[in-house]
Amino acid sequence: MHPERPHRDFLNIADFSTDETFALLALAERMRTGAYTARPLAGKALAMIFMKSSTRTRMSFEVGANQLGGTAHFLSPRDVQLGRGEPIPDTARVLSRYVHGIMIRTFAHQDAQDLATYAHIPVINGLTDLSHPCQVLADVLTMQQHLGDVRGKSVAWIGDGNNMANSWIEAAAHLGFSLRLACPEGYDPDDHFLAAARARGADVRLLRDPREAVDGVDVVTTDVWASMGQEEEQARRALAFALYQVDAELMARAARHAIFLHCLPAHRGEEVTAEVIDGPQSVVWDEAENRLHIQKAIMAALMGNEPLHTMG
Ligand code: CP
Ligand code: NVA
Repeated sequence: MHPERPHRDFLNIADFSTDETFALLALAERMRTGAYTARPLAGKALAMIFMKSSTRTRMSFEVGANQLGGTAHFLSPRDVQLGRGEPIPDTARVLSRYVHGIMIRTFAHQDAQDLATYAHIPVINGLTDLSHPCQVLADVLTMQQHLGDVRGKSVAWIGDGNNMANSWIEAAAHLGFSLRLACPEGYDPDDHFLAAARARGADVRLLRDPREAVDGVDVVTTDVWASMGQEEEQARRALAFALYQVDAELMARAARHAIFLHCLPAHRGEEVTAEVIDGPQSVVWDEAENRLHIQKAIMAALMGNEPLHTMG
């Protein structure tokens, strides 16, 4: 790859403008329905660095790159020199000579940022401790699929103010829906994401009571109580989050047409009951499928020069 070639990264939702994000969602929708058949990644390769486990992210990027005519290459810390301390800048420069894009899942968000700084090709955030933008765009695509235009809709986030919560805050501000987060004290989302959303005039409220958060909303969503890397906090967190389970009673407070989302993997009996996640309002399998479509759109735009036709 030419070292000086201009490129864009996708580390957080606002890396695409609002118009571009809607165009990205429209492109993903064409991919979902089968209307898009181009192969903009023909002859191109994606490197996928996974410092944490994954089922959906790995499979959807790998299959997606293949469907677009390209290849995807899984790099685990056990096998690559990064896991033995090779510096991120060196890894970034070397990978830039072989492939056309890098997806990274890691702990510190700064590591993904450093990779993007030193790579000469697009870097895509496949989850950091700070954010999970690909997942939340897939969630927004799922909202659109089931509820229509997301603008003006309302979403309730129940539980941990984690990477998913941060990306939901960004999406609400960026795409024009309201968000109520119910998090126990001590588990609030990132201050900067909240401040940035409020500075944009977004309707984002941080609450303590899950019942208040879900009252009449269009979407109820939650996530595990202990994220990857927090396993040793599991017992303490189970106590802190005991009143933050999404059960049928809580779900009944949302709008009748409300959908339930969960990025998965889920812990039935902890953050959500089996009755809810396996019930009629749950669209979590569509949500998981939509990872494939939105990431294909992201790769086509960043690595395949697919234009994002913005709405007028
Ligand atoms: N939701 C999600 O990112 O799943 P994986 O951890 O399986 O990739
Ligand atoms: N918050 C979770 C999301 C997993 C997809 C984690 O970081 O482990």
